[in-house]
Parts: sequence; C-alpha cells; structure tokens
Amino acid sequence: MRNKTSLERLAEVEDVILRLENIKKSFDGVTVLNGIDLDVKRGEFITLLGSSGCGKTTTLRIIGGLETADEGRVILEGVDVTNEEPNKRNVNTVFQNYALFPHMNVEQNVGYSLKIRRRSKEDIKKAVSDALQMVQLEGYEKRMPNELSGGQRQRIAIARAIVNEPKVLLLDEPLGALDLKLRRQMQIELKRLQKRLGITFIYITHDQEEALNMSDRIAVMRNGVFEQLGTASDVYDRPRTSYVAEFVGSANIIRGTAQGSDENTVRFVNSCGTGEVSRNGAAIKDGEDVVTAVRSEHIDLCSPESGAKGLRGTVKEKSFSGGMLRIEVGLEDGTSVVSSRHGINADWVPGDAVIASWDPEKAVLVDLEG
Ligand SMILES: Nc1ncnc2c1ncn2[C@@H]1O[C@H](COP(=O)(O)OP(=O)(O)OP(=O)(O)O)[C@@H](O)[C@H]1O
Ligand SMILES: [Mg+2]
Repeated sequence: MRNKTSLERLAEVEDVILRLENIKKSFDGVTVLNGIDLDVKRGEFITLLGSSGCGKTTTLRIIGGLETADEGRVILEGVDVTNEEPNKRNVNTVFQNYALFPHMNVEQNVGYSLKIRRRSKEDIKKAVSDALQMVQLEGYEKRMPNELSGGQRQRIAIARAIVNEPKVLLLDEPLGALDLKLRRQMQIELKRLQKRLGITFIYITHDQEEALNMSDRIAVMRNGVFEQLGTASDVYDRPRTSYVAEFVGSANIIRGTAQGSDENTVRFVNSCGTGEVSRNGAAIKDGEDVVTAVRSEHIDLCSPESGAKGLRGTVKEKSFSGGMLRIEVGLEDGTSVVSSRHGINADWVPGDAVIASWDPEKAVLVDLEG
C-alpha cells in the first residue's frame, strides 16, 4: 500500500474536507481574490458574507472548478483538485440565478445529472423521489418549472443539487429571490436538510441575519480577502474591524483619544465628551487613537441634568424598526449614534438634549478600516 500524503492525513485526522490555500485571482489585471485561506470541517456550514463584488461567487466557482485560480490550491478530502475538471470533484452548486431547464419537468430536472452518469431508470426514479421528499415537494414530478412558485423552483434547484449526494454543496444566494417569510421558512428547512444529510455547506448570502442564524462560521469578505472568519458570536460580539462591526449588525463606530485608562478599561475623550471600553488585553496607552464599536442595543440615553458621563448630543430622529424603538442622536461633532436599547424611554422627542453612554463591557475596540 502506498504511503498517505500529508494532505490525506490532514483530511483524516483533522476531518478537514476542504482546504483553500492562498487563493488569488485577477480578471483583466484587477485583483478579485487576494489570498484566501480556509479550512472547512466535514459537515460544517460556512457562510461567505460581504457586499456586492467582494469576490464571493468567484471563490465558490474556484471551489467548484468552474474558474481556475491564478495562484493557490484547492484541496478536497486530502486530494489536490486545483487542476481537476468540475465533474471530477464531489461538489455540487446551486447558482445565484437558479435556472432550471425550462423545457424539462421537475423529475427530468432533478434526475438530469444521474441520467448523464448513465444510472438505471429505477435508480434515478428512486433518487429523484428521495430528493423531492427532502425538499417536501413529493408529487410535483410532472410539473414544468413555469408551473411552480419561486420558492418551489428554488427547492427543486436544491433537490437537483443534492440528488447525487455531493460531499460539499455550494450555494450562491439560494434564497435571494424569495420574500421574507418564505426565506425564513426555507432557512430552517435548509439547515435541517444540511444536518440530516451531513453535507458540508458553503453558502453565500447578502443577508447578515441569515448568515448569523444558519452558519457554524462566517467569513466576512471585503475586497477579495476574509476580513474576519469566526462564529456568529465572534463576528457580531467581537468584530475585529470597524468594517465588520458596521457590516454585521450595523454598530456605532466612535472615535477618540485615550485618556485616564487603567488595566481593565480604556477611557477616551473626544469633542463630545467621554467614553469607556473594556480593554481586553489591548496595549493602548494614553494619547493614542481609539476606535470603539457599540451595538445600538447597548446605547443608553439620559438627560444632561442627570450628570451622567458620555457623549453629548441631540435627538435627531425617532422611528420604529422591527418592533423596536430606534432613536438617532446627532452628536456635537456632526457624527451620530443610534440607540435601540430594550426599554428605552419612548418620551424623547427630536430636539431633546441627551447624553449617550454604554456599559464598557458591551463595547469593543476595533481596527479602523477604509
Ligand atoms: N469572468 C469575469 N470577468 C471579469 N470580471 C469578473 C468576472 N467574474 C467576476 N468578475 C469581477 O470580479 C469581482 C467579484 O465578482 P463576484 O461575482 O465574485 O462578486 P460577488 O461577491 O459574488 O458579488 P455579488 O454579491 O454581487 O454576487 C467583480 O468586480 C466582478 O465584476
Ligand atoms: Mg455573487
């Protein structure tokens, strides 16, 4: 028996099903991916989250073999597949625009890849029926795509992708075309399906809530790199950069100069007042610039007469969003902060002078980006 390569051992011991190593890609001299590294565990649900054009689809296409990287390697189950054809990889894709074959009925659409592989009629029938059951569309075999709703078409596209039981399923905004209610339903169904089948998902979405709800880990992408890769709690509660803080859950970004800090807390001043943030081991000294991210649900407002410390401003706007009261405060330096804290006083009206403050434990120090 031949000796196992180190990659094969990695796949076995660490249970890494997919590894991307320093993937780089340019189109017409413009860098689109600038060194992507990723280890995906078997059965993991990984989401690529990022604004339009940041390189999500290109990353997926390189994993699937539909695009070749200029540099770097794609390793699937310990085997370097960088230069393999798509059909040699045990990977299926649900594309951004989930085109079904319009002239084929549901059964033919779902069974297509098995037919190409010359599987027997009985095998195909059984596999198609199983796949339709998984997406809860049994009995739809003879329907044509134009006789289905958008959500049903989407589920057929997913059935088509899972019918030959790929090890890794690549999904490019699979729920993007659905209305909010159906999207929420499908999120739950998809997640269930993924767990039940034990398929590894690499999933793309614009929708941060979808990413936070579904993923084991999220890669926040920006300009062709992963700006942060971690669990939902990592990117939401402990964003590393102001970009991640603002992109995932739109945090308030507050700047100042460190002054009077101690071992546990960094204190800072700016032209609107003072703020505090837990130090978390950061080596910031007095006089240095400080950038802090604070979620709007942690911003408290009180009246200047209370003598509270914080940032001085004026209530600018009051609105309801998602059942929560949202108050935007214009600060004295022209920036603004948003408070949507639970139980916030609903009596504030535009024009009221307020002090914005927060629990330093709920604030994080971030790197300023852009
Ligand atoms: N075949 C191509 N030729 C030239 N440029 C391309 C090609 N494919 C992608 N690009 C460019 O690469 C960049 C990244 O594209 P990509 O499709 O990966 O973005 P994305 O993150 O999926 O965006 P979206 O959220 O809008 O789908 C874009 O600027 C795009 O115009
Ligand atoms: Mg895309």
